[in-house]
Amino acid sequence: MITIQHNVSLKKFNTFGINTKAKNFITITNISELIVALQLEEFSNYFVLGGGSNMLLTQDIEIPVLHINSKGKRVVFSTEDEVLVEIQAGENWHEFVLWCIENDFGGVENLSLIPGNVGTSPIQNIGAYGVELKDTFISCAAIDIKTQEQKVFQRDDCNFGYRNSIFKNEVKGKYIITSVVFKLTRKNHKLNTSYGAIQQELERNQITKPTIKNVSDAVIAIRQRKLPDPKEIGNSGSFFKNPVISKAAFDILQKEHPNAPHYVISDTEIKVPAGWLIEQCGFKGKRFGDAGVHKNQALVLVNYDNATGAEILALAKKIQASVLDKFNIAIEAEVNVI
Ligand code: EPU
Repeated sequence: MITIQHNVSLKKFNTFGINTKAKNFITITNISELIVALQLEEFSNYFVLGGGSNMLLTQDIEIPVLHINSKGKRVVFSTEDEVLVEIQAGENWHEFVLWCIENDFGGVENLSLIPGNVGTSPIQNIGAYGVELKDTFISCAAIDIKTQEQKVFQRDDCNFGYRNSIFKNEVKGKYIITSVVFKLTRKNHKLNTSYGAIQQELERNQITKPTIKNVSDAVIAIRQRKLPDPKEIGNSGSFFKNPVISKAAFDILQKEHPNAPHYVISDTEIKVPAGWLIEQCGFKGKRFGDAGVHKNQALVLVNYDNATGAEILALAKKIQASVLDKFNIAIEAEVNVI
């Protein structure tokens, strides 16, 4: 059944734990309810809420908040080697990963413990430890908000890039993703343990022939050490994207900072970790009232308790100005500021 509540606090619906309010809060649990909700005459414009893990709320939401709470995970096709699974948008991402590990379905183990829901995972092409959503993504079903028609987006339609997709660009705000289909392996799993921290964690546990569960456990241990748990300290993961700069600009930076970490993107482009830039500017572990920069990963802004969205945003702007001033590099928010 569709439920509509009024003046609802959004604190427990966003991982930053920001206490703004929704004037109208509509919860739907399946596609039919979603279509009915989109046809309600009194509303024409919606704010779509999934797991609330990639947003900074700086104000109350006057337009209706549509909370997508559809559940369901099922195998739609299976061979000896591979499996196609269809996951409803309201499923929690990490619970989906754990379900894959339990069933020995390989492909998403490196993406363990990422906050948020399955339905929003394609929007920013979530990624960690050398793997991105696009590597196992087959398609997603979506509803056109205006016409309520269903559309299926195949992987090639989605223009996936680093923390990017068609859903952040050409069709932004036009569709609500209702389910996602992934292709996973049932045997001969293609493990991706090339990321240094994963290798070290496996070595530390003397694991020489890792299973997908071993990789997932390693990622969980690394993330728990480095990243704050949103249940304890409000946060939205990486607040900024890692900037990509020209090779010429990087050469200048490297002269002054010979140990600057970096990833080569192409002959002409280098990606520099924003966390490192922010740490160099002296912000790591700093606290300004209830807003702060995490002590183990400077890329993550945190809400210690009662910070407002405006306070976190002011800190983000201060950091951006400082990085620009010191390195002449503009860092861009990854989180959606509302
Ligand atoms: N670094 C610092 N200081 C810091 C943080 C990082 O010097 O405070 C340095 C590290 O020493 C390392 C480099 O920066 O040399 C990279 O750090 P890390 O491995 O932690 O990765 P990242 O580039 O900071 C990205 C993703 C994370 C993802 C990790 C692992 C982005 C914006 N972030 O962080 O994603 O977990 O790689 O793959 O690309 C997220 O999106 O919410 C997220 C947590």
